[in-house]
Amino acid sequence: MRHNAPLIVGIGKGFSAVASDVLGFIDWTNKAVFLEDDSVCLLQREKIDVRSLNGARRNFEVVELAEEMSSEGKESCEHYTLKEIYEQPEAVMRVLRQDPGSLTLFRKQLQEAKKVFFVAAGTSYHASMVGKEYLARNMGVYSEVILASEYKSYLRWFDDETVLVAVSQSGETMDVLEAVRAGKERGCNVLGVVNHSPSTLERISDTVVNLRAGQEVGVAATKSFTSQIALFYLISKKGVDRQEIEGIAEAIREAIKEEKAIKRIAETIASGKDLYYLGRGMNYPIALEGALKMKELAYIHAEGLAAGELKHGPLALIEKGVPLILINPLDESYQDTISNGMEVKARGGMLIGVSSEPNAIYDYFIRIPKVDNQHYPLVTAIPMQLLAYHAAKLLRADIDKPRNLAKSVTVK
Ligand code: BG6
Repeated sequence: MRHNAPLIVGIGKGFSAVASDVLGFIDWTNKAVFLEDDSVCLLQREKIDVRSLNGARRNFEVVELAEEMSSEGKESCEHYTLKEIYEQPEAVMRVLRQDPGSLTLFRKQLQEAKKVFFVAAGTSYHASMVGKEYLARNMGVYSEVILASEYKSYLRWFDDETVLVAVSQSGETMDVLEAVRAGKERGCNVLGVVNHSPSTLERISDTVVNLRAGQEVGVAATKSFTSQIALFYLISKKGVDRQEIEGIAEAIREAIKEEKAIKRIAETIASGKDLYYLGRGMNYPIALEGALKMKELAYIHAEGLAAGELKHGPLALIEKGVPLILINPLDESYQDTISNGMEVKARGGMLIGVSSEPNAIYDYFIRIPKVDNQHYPLVTAIPMQLLAYHAAKLLRADIDKPRNLAKSVTVK
């Protein structure tokens, strides 16, 4: 029986299967039935019978799952997470394959809305923070980013003049679904951004865009993050052409090539207890994401900080040898972030600079290619992911299935 949490039936030759994610049976059959909520299903070897709670027969549709839903295995990678990090250039290119009509519709509804709220959790929340910046810079649209589990504080602003941009890789995160249902009850227009299809968020949204990043098996989100950011960029900025997206994909490839250097730096921080990430403007959500990746994958206490906040408290944490990652691309925040780095150095902190520009204050330097200011979040995300991956590997953590975490949290 399905109630609230996702439940899917796989129909195969001589067998039927039930799972909470198509991943459970995708290697044996690509024929699936996505049960409606409050359905009871009787499975037999080669046939199923679906009923509503009062026993009435329910029609069901057997859908053929898209090729990219299948997990093609790890290929030559030791972990799905690493494979999915390497897949980001292609995944970002796939974002381009959006139906221009739904992008225009998305943009129009954002432009016309009186109030715009992003609603998301985890990594999708950090991507939404970058989305907020793109809407402001490229469309002049003001928006708020809400932590899905905290949506109740914003309910009074949920009405028929409100657009909710609900962002969820899985499309099944309970906090996001609950916020969306509360919004719909109050007349909000819901724009869903998902990677998993079909999914509940896709079903209950008014307009949907699918990332097409492909199946993401690693519990820690990686390629869905950069695909979400690329999508928000595409929605906010008219006239983004193939050449520009190919340029972004190439820059991501360049950043991945620094893996060896990043691995060496991971060796210096893996034995540490506390780690801090610092960023300004669009780099601040990347600092939060870097810290989240280190917590999720390597179980190291890590904190993402807005660089300007350093002097208002966190600087007290900095003493000799405390590692701090300074996300400092050559954009409008460069000089201010360098001075924050100097404050950390002055207290003996160990500074790891992420930039296209080396600087004497860095104890360690992670090179990223120089790109357009608005493209940096798509590039700086890579060293954040690889640093956490290699620290986790050194600490022999269960990288694809970190302890205590799930790919989608379908309960409150
Ligand atoms: C967590 C995942 O369960 O949910 C994170 O471990 C993810 O990686 C978060 O970012 C939100 O998931 P979703 O599917 O709503 O984007």
